[in-house]
Amino acid sequence: MGEKNRTAVVSKWIKTKVLLGSKEVRPFMLDTRKISKTDLKEMLKSYRMVYVKPENGTHGKGVIRAEQLENGDYTYQVETVKKTFGSYDPFYQSLQKLTGKRSYLIQKGIHLVKYRKRRFDIRVMVQRRPGGDWEATGLIGRVAREGKIVTNYHSGGTPMDVKTLLGAHLNEKETAKVIQSLNKLGVTTAKHLHKKYPGFRHIGLDIGFDRTWTPWIIEVNTMPDPYIFNQLKDKSMYRKVMKFRQAWK
Ligand SMILES: Nc1ncnc2c1ncn2[C@@H]1O[C@H](COP(=O)(O)OP(=O)(O)OP(=O)(O)O)[C@@H](O)[C@H]1O
Ligand SMILES: [Mg+2]
Repeated sequence: MGEKNRTAVVSKWIKTKVLLGSKEVRPFMLDTRKISKTDLKEMLKSYRMVYVKPENGTHGKGVIRAEQLENGDYTYQVETVKKTFGSYDPFYQSLQKLTGKRSYLIQKGIHLVKYRKRRFDIRVMVQRRPGGDWEATGLIGRVAREGKIVTNYHSGGTPMDVKTLLGAHLNEKETAKVIQSLNKLGVTTAKHLHKKYPGFRHIGLDIGFDRTWTPWIIEVNTMPDPYIFNQLKDKSMYRKVMKFRQAWK
């Protein structure tokens, strides 16, 4: 398939590089590198917590959360299993057993805000009208199972409406402001990707918030699942998302 006609890009590494090419999107990006023994050590030293994930992963599979603790120990978690090591080399060797021959990335970790002790992030669906503008058509929260490190539906996460999640922490005015900034970031990101890939019709941004309510782009999906919106009681977003998709048929 020619680059111009592409409707999707799978590699999280390629997507990261393309997104870093936008002055407007870059401030929301997390330091991301291809895995190497020295970079992982360095990133753990600077950030204390990182996510190690497959370059071509989906559904949260193979995602690892790694940390360097105050006492200098190294630890990682996959699913709900945690392992701790007194020094870097055995820690890295153990990680390598999990990553195998697959290509992995390291990304600065965000301590995601929680809802009833569960981490959550927000999926922003952005779609284009045929021959027309981009619009943020759907917003949905994804709440991880307690103790889990990923929020994906396929890994046991629960979709929830954004106002409930944000409303547990913010007042109405603050919630409205956050929603507005998410929609704006979604459209800016879509427009940038569309310049390079005019064949794109929709994207789904996974946005995480840290304790200061700074939004961070965890990843941009180019094949976002529309059906997650059908999990909400209020079907208006689901209907809108499906209407945009129908328009391309
Ligand atoms: N840097 C990070 N900081 C905090 N949480 C993260 C980070 N990276 C990933 N996560 C958590 O792990 C989940 C899965 O990661 P990611 O979206 O990058 O891969 P994936 O879900 O396997 O890919 P896809 O969404 O394309 O199926 C995220 O939705 C988020 O909850
Ligand atoms: Mg994801």
